[in-house]
Amino acid sequence: MITRLLGPGAPAVSAIGFGGMPLSIAGRPPEDRAIRAVHAALEAGMTLIDTADVYCLDDNDIGHNERLIAKALKQWTGNKEGIVVATKGGLTRPGGSWERVNDPAHLRKACDRSLKALGVERIDLYQLHAPLPGSSIAETAEVLAELKTAGKIRWVGLSNVSVSEIEQARKVVDVATVQNRLSPFFRESLEPGFLREPSVVEHCRTQGVGFLAYSPVGGGRLNLKLPGLPVIATIAKRHNATPHSVVLAWVLAQGPTVIPIPGGRTVEHVKDAAGAADLDLTPAELEEIAKTQFSRA
Ligand SMILES: NC(=O)c1ccc[n+]([C@@H]2O[C@H](COP(=O)([O-])OP(=O)(O)OC[C@H]3O[C@@H](n4cnc5c(N)ncnc54)[C@H](OP(=O)(O)O)[C@@H]3O)[C@@H](O)[C@H]2O)c1
Repeated sequence: MITRLLGPGAPAVSAIGFGGMPLSIAGRPPEDRAIRAVHAALEAGMTLIDTADVYCLDDNDIGHNERLIAKALKQWTGNKEGIVVATKGGLTRPGGSWERVNDPAHLRKACDRSLKALGVERIDLYQLHAPLPGSSIAETAEVLAELKTAGKIRWVGLSNVSVSEIEQARKVVDVATVQNRLSPFFRESLEPGFLREPSVVEHCRTQGVGFLAYSPVGGGRLNLKLPGLPVIATIAKRHNATPHSVVLAWVLAQGPTVIPIPGGRTVEHVKDAAGAADLDLTPAELEEIAKTQFSRA
């Protein structure tokens, strides 16, 4: 598979990575099928796996996805060189809900727990899952810097952030990646901010920061609508490709540092997603998708 630089000071990884979330939240498959999905990703040449401590059912199940990824990697007999596992801290799952908790004590504990769940001495990429509104991201970044200096994490990432939050954090610690939502349904990361602030994708491009596009086919609900969208279906037919791979190729084309990280619970879906890295849409097709508004209803 073609590769893209993960970020400053970090290596190149597959241009399409694998998102582990659907393997561990509600609706998750049995473990043997989940492991087959991870192996399908590795078999297809994906070298970036995204997980989080909170990809689980609730607070009693923290680390489910990290343990699953660790188990799948342990059982993988192929080449493990160059595989980057990215996890996150900064959320909790009380009663199955998602809550932001950024305080230093929580992040330090979460990082130690992730090290254990992943079975590693150092986490490749550790991402702040989401900043807490009203709290200082610079102070949170200090904790990430401390974890890096302690050798517990190799590269730092941020998720669900604006350009100004990225820059506040970068004053404190080197940031390799930003992980925000991006699909034809959700394009806020392509939109310029206040006072001519560039879009997050554009800012990542100019800074060489990897932009990990999450929910790139629209997430668990909206992705099911793709085959019924005429613009997508027509382009897919023209390329003898699936609607999902057309959308992934569109996301990939939004910037040279964009790396989509689709989720997938079946071998077939994961293989298809990986194949999107080889699908070249024409400028006219990219434009056609860009100018179409897709309903989120
Ligand atoms: N940082 C954050 O706050 C945040 C938030 C959400 C997600 N994420 C990360 O981003 C990853 C992806 O997001 P997501 O899982 O929400 O949504 P997504 O990647 O848009 O995918 C949702 C579903 O689309 C289906 N799919 C994907 N590729 C397909 C294909 N080629 N053909 C057919 N179906 C396909 C899969 O269904 P099946 O499961 O049925 O195979 C998958 O579960 C997550 O796994 C997680 O790692 C991060």
